[in-house]
Amino acid sequence: MASSTKVLVIGSSSLVGSHFVETFGDKYDISAIGRKNIFGDGKLLSSFERIDLEDRERLAKAIRSSDAEFVINYAAETNVDACEAESGNEKGHVCLTNSEAVALMASVCKEEGKRFFQISTDFVFDGTNGPYSEDDPAGPINSKIGWYGYTKYLGEVKLNKIAPQGSCIIRISYPYRAHFDLKTDFARNIIDLYRKGKLYPMFEDQIFSPTLIDDVSNAVDFLIANSAEGKYHVASKYPTTPFLFASELISTFFGKENEAEVKRGSIVDFNKVPGRAPRPVRGGLRTDKIQKLGFLPKTFEDGIRTIFKASTSLGH
Ligand SMILES: NC(=O)c1ccc[n+]([C@@H]2O[C@H](COP(=O)([O-])OP(=O)(O)OC[C@H]3O[C@@H](n4cnc5c(N)ncnc54)[C@H](OP(=O)(O)O)[C@@H]3O)[C@@H](O)[C@H]2O)c1
Repeated sequence: MASSTKVLVIGSSSLVGSHFVETFGDKYDISAIGRKNIFGDGKLLSSFERIDLEDRERLAKAIRSSDAEFVINYAAETNVDACEAESGNEKGHVCLTNSEAVALMASVCKEEGKRFFQISTDFVFDGTNGPYSEDDPAGPINSKIGWYGYTKYLGEVKLNKIAPQGSCIIRISYPYRAHFDLKTDFARNIIDLYRKGKLYPMFEDQIFSPTLIDDVSNAVDFLIANSAEGKYHVASKYPTTPFLFASELISTFFGKENEAEVKRGSIVDFNKVPGRAPRPVRGGLRTDKIQKLGFLPKTFEDGIRTIFKASTSLGH
């Protein structure tokens, strides 16, 4: 039974946002805006309005006329290498989606007294000094960042300027879940490649904090309940490397005896490939702030066990 709390989700067809709708469609009265309605006329969404975020007039009108108290934006241009092709173009689709549309959402939410939640990324950091806390300066501080990360960073800066109160930025990192037909996340990609015997070497020199998507949905629910404002990181309780993550993943899904098949690689060479967006090397997110508030993100080992259990029960 839906509560009377009304939530407007922007980007309900996304890997991360669709999980919130699936998990909390019964708890909240959720309406959505986006290009694609993957939930049909079912029970999870009370309404869906088809809008491209570049249509600023319709976007502003839809938020203004919504009776939702909370607006959560999951929509973004997320293909980091494709974003790189628009590098430097502040009038391009990537910047309009990841930055200008966010500024518009923040400004309309402020005018209308709605609380605004923006989902962001560890790619706003240059990856020279992680794992990062919410207080660490983002943007290209010691090194350049890719266009995806830069436009998400610009979105954060604009949001902070427009609506420092009544809004929340939730940064996540390498999100993964048990199942989603429309997009393969990096954990399921590792599993698929391993099954095909095509798993490439996994970086042992990159620090990252993969985020269980179940934790993101639960954290959004928790932050709504706590009327939270400001920045929060939601990620694995402590950071790891892709090599250790993949080893744990293969061991859990295929047995400990297969763990040794995961080979070691280096991100340094990967980041040198021209046209590819640079990935944070010493990246990762610290989660002490949200833990102090009372939300405990899972460790990556628990996250892997969670998707394994769910995949087994789904028959995948
Ligand atoms: N995936 C990651 O590795 C990662 C890591 C850290 C943070 N994040 C952040 O987490 C959030 C969700 O990411 P995700 O990977 O779940 O996203 P995703 O699966 O790539 O989906 C992107 C969403 O944005 C919508 N969208 C993109 N451009 C749009 C436009 N011009 N107008 C309307 N809708 C548009 C898409 O709609 P259509 O389905 O109709 O195209 C889709 O709902 C994003 O803010 C992202 O920056 C993601």
